[in-house]
Amino acid sequence: MKIGVPKELKNQEYRVGLTPHSVQVLSGQGHQVFFENNLGSGIGFTDEDYIAAGGNLCNSAEEVYSHGQLIVKVKEPLDSELSLINEKHTLFTFFHLAGNPAGVKNLLATGSRGIAYETVTNEQGGLPLLSPMSAIAGQISLAIGNYYLLKPHGGKGVLSTPLEGLTSREVTVLGAGVAGCNAIKVAVNQGSVVNILDLNESKLNELKMLYGEKVNTFLSNEKNIEKCIASSDIVVGSVYVIGKQAPKVIFKKHLSCMQQGSVMIDISIDQGGCFESSAPTTHDDPVYKVEDILHYCVTNMPGAVPLTASEALNKATLPFIESMANYGIDEALAKSEHLNNGLNFSQGKLIHPSVIESLQ
Ligand SMILES: NC(=O)c1ccc[n+]([C@@H]2O[C@H](COP(=O)([O-])OP(=O)(O)OC[C@H]3O[C@@H](n4cnc5c(N)ncnc54)[C@H](O)[C@@H]3O)[C@@H](O)[C@H]2O)c1
Repeated sequence: MKIGVPKELKNQEYRVGLTPHSVQVLSGQGHQVFFENNLGSGIGFTDEDYIAAGGNLCNSAEEVYSHGQLIVKVKEPLDSELSLINEKHTLFTFFHLAGNPAGVKNLLATGSRGIAYETVTNEQGGLPLLSPMSAIAGQISLAIGNYYLLKPHGGKGVLSTPLEGLTSREVTVLGAGVAGCNAIKVAVNQGSVVNILDLNESKLNELKMLYGEKVNTFLSNEKNIEKCIASSDIVVGSVYVIGKQAPKVIFKKHLSCMQQGSVMIDISIDQGGCFESSAPTTHDDPVYKVEDILHYCVTNMPGAVPLTASEALNKATLPFIESMANYGIDEALAKSEHLNNGLNFSQGKLIHPSVIESLQ
């Protein structure tokens, strides 16, 4: 199999589709990996490391796409990359199509096939390629929240970690999946009072058993959401329904009940955002205010820790890449319903039912 790995073009995106270790594994199995020069230079992987692992150096993205059949990336291709993509390519990357309806038509027009990390499943009913990135986003959401609560950063000027003699501060997490549970863990560890909302009662019960008095669990509905966000300094949105546009859980009308200078972090922004007032932002310009509430809506949060994120992502993606390389892509898809669940589009047509439903 000829595998191409272009450099990521998204703002502040230094993650790599393949690490030198992954290239070594694939080239050791007889596959050819074509990588763009300086692919991993932002995270300490030199071109020499990739060459030593058996990779073939390309001097441009054009060259990578011209050689590669299976293109392994991290984030969705940007408009400027689309002219390089054609029907011979299968792209294996995050797409989040439901979160970016405007970009879908041009992507489909390339005639390529897209297997989306965010809808690949596993035997346990989980999302093995999305999960490591969600875990990172959940963990760093609290660091981000704490940072923007500082007065010089536009926040209300509170320390969300406890100080003797003062009442503990509150954090609300909406959506207790992988990202949410990682945010909850950090928030509990830092001594905040944590409000958790989800639609899944058994998940809420498990978290109550785990954390006891340190958390308050609520079924996610308007009344409970309003109550929790009114007293919280940090609100983390981490809801997800596989392949679909994120359900809106906080509407603009609810912002008036929040305290000025509070921080909202919409992790679900890659699927369109779960707060009505959310709009995608970048690491270069991550926050804006609506009604004096800070909104952080960066669509590639794990890009803030690109070395960790690349290693975690490669650990999860490599078995699927090996399978596609060794069996051929069609056979690998036929052999594995879990990889096949990642198939979002092919030959100009959307395939994944949830994505189709969301984009109708
Ligand atoms: N911004 C980023 O950089 C970034 C990085 C990683 C993940 N993400 C996104 O984070 C989101 C969460 O991912 P995950 O892996 O934690 O998903 P997950 O499937 O593990 O968890 C989602 C949770 O949301 C709950 N939920 C669904 N609808 C709800 C509703 N209306 N109200 C309350 N809870 C609801 C589900 O019951 C589930 O517990 C996804 O959209 C993912 O793409 C974003």
